Amino acid sequence: MLKGVILAGGLGTRLHPLTKITSKHLLPVGNEPMIFHSVKQLTTAGVTDILIVTNPQYVGDFVNVLGSGKDFGCEFTYRVQEEAKGIAHALALAEGFATRDKIVVLLGDNIFEAPIHQAVSDFHAQQTGARVMLKQVDDPERYGVATLDGNHIVAIEEKPMHPKSDYAVVGVYFYDASVFDIIRTIEPSARGEYEITAVNNAYIRRAELEYSFVQGKWIDAGTFDSLTEAHQILLNAADWQ
Ligand code: G1P
Repeated sequence: MLKGVILAGGLGTRLHPLTKITSKHLLPVGNEPMIFHSVKQLTTAGVTDILIVTNPQYVGDFVNVLGSGKDFGCEFTYRVQEEAKGIAHALALAEGFATRDKIVVLLGDNIFEAPIHQAVSDFHAQQTGARVMLKQVDDPERYGVATLDGNHIVAIEEKPMHPKSDYAVVGVYFYDASVFDIIRTIEPSARGEYEITAVNNAYIRRAELEYSFVQGKWIDAGTFDSLTEAHQILLNAADWQ
């Protein structure tokens, strides 16, 4: 069984004053709150057991908007991340929910023009290890950047000043049950966060990291410009949503 985790923490300071109203992930994108997109990506791919991780300030808003999951044909579980210590730190809160099942993790501010269900099927077929999704971008220094050698990722660097490629690692990650043991071994980065890139590099060292390419456009909607772009993409997106 594959379970879903949507990470929707953070204070969204780059989107003040909008995020004084509520979480970035509940702001309107297309005609809906942003997080609906992640939920629909998962349910469209057949993933219906979904954990939402958010911060204490906003958890009530998420429960008000999403409820039990009945309206989406899924079931939500909620967990609160007390401290903003990074994506891997937030993911550690999913261990009890995952109960050693495989998981797909979505960053709730990542918006995709096309469904990601092919990558979900590819991961279903994968016995062990992890999978990331890549997209060629013009500004790789803003993201995790993968160096490829043939069919393999040989390294991922988090926001490098001099990127070795233009392949961004987007905010969709597939993990087997060993991810939680790996998280326990990583150290915080220079910016004081438990980085998801450190987790993915641990899978590279085990020769267990696969990748899929993102089809269509991809946006990390954390700024006003990217939020506007995400809005346009979802207004024009096909019926799958
Ligand atoms: C995070 C990850 C980064 C990834 C990005 C995708 O960065 O650390 O590797 O490329 O999400 O949206 P953040 O946007 O949290 O700084």
